[in-house]
Amino acid sequence: MTPRTASLLLVLLALPLSAVAAGPPGDYGEGQRLYGEVCFSCHGNRGDGRGPNWKSTRPRPPAFTSPLMKRMTDDYLFAVTKFGKLNLLKERTGGFKLRGAKPAAMPGPADSIEDGQIRALLRWVRGFPAGKQPDDPTSREIYQAACAECHGKAGRGDGETALGGQPPGWPFVSRIQPPPADLTSREQMARFGGRYLFWLVKLGRIGAAEEKGYDYMEPFGHILKDAQIWSLVRYVREAFIEGKPRGR
Ligand code: HEC
Ligand code: HEC
Repeated sequence: MTPRTASLLLVLLALPLSAVAAGPPGDYGEGQRLYGEVCFSCHGNRGDGRGPNWKSTRPRPPAFTSPLMKRMTDDYLFAVTKFGKLNLLKERTGGFKLRGAKPAAMPGPADSIEDGQIRALLRWVRGFPAGKQPDDPTSREIYQAACAECHGKAGRGDGETALGGQPPGWPFVSRIQPPPADLTSREQMARFGGRYLFWLVKLGRIGAAEEKGYDYMEPFGHILKDAQIWSLVRYVREAFIEGKPRGR
């Protein structure tokens, strides 16, 4: 490899994923129509997660307008809608592969951490949004040892596993999908009840769904064609994640 191609490669590697990937294919208008028929009931007409079913899902649906969504790839949005979250996390996607990122569930089981310690850790974690945490050196230590690689030292979801060598700072596209939660975000943390978080940390995301029945994004691949799902991805990306809805 000549020095010139080597430096070109370096430049390419340093580009954020979003700059390399073209926008999603699909038709905005079709996406808008399908969203109003199928997705609004949970995610809300304005993409704020406050659809009529907002109260009945555990965890609550995410707001597509949240900055955290900018860390998701189009491929992830497509795959989570087509296959559902559990199938995606278990890599039951019939050969479909995410480009530039790998699916990774919130891990578990954290059997090495006792129940009481998980509760203390979560009280400490809950202090992130206010920037005020209980004085609890043990929880801080466990957090830095077991959680910071993904969630970041300061809880912003920007640990090395998510950054994968990208420069720290914001925004970035996560190298693991879904992106690790931003624990400092009030909007995100308000989606989760205490019991859900306990089982999430104890059993992991897959265990919390399979053993404790917590909700996850269901598959829609049996009622929607791929082209329709790409239209939804385009609509969600443009209207909510980028915040540029077009008039009807
Ligand atoms: C019955 C309620 C419900 C419906 C209907 C629904 N969703 Fe979801 N969706 C959820 C819940 C709950 C989550 C959060 C899952 C989690 O955190 O594990 C979610 C998460 C998502 C995510 C983010 C994935 C992530 O990992 O956070 C996307 C993208 C998404 N939904 C797209 C859609 C689209 C597109 C439709 C319409 C085809 C749709 N959803 C319909 C409940 C729903
Ligand atoms: C290997 C990476 C990784 C590690 C290590 C990790 N997490 Fe996570 N965490 C994630 C991912 C990915 C999500 C997003 C889950 C989702 O959307 O289903 C998440 C989500 C969360 C959430 C929000 C709940 C949700 O559904 O998004 C909390 C709270 C959390 N983690 C706490 C912790 C704590 C406490 C630890 C340490 C004991 C920890 N995590 C370790 C990857 C990780």
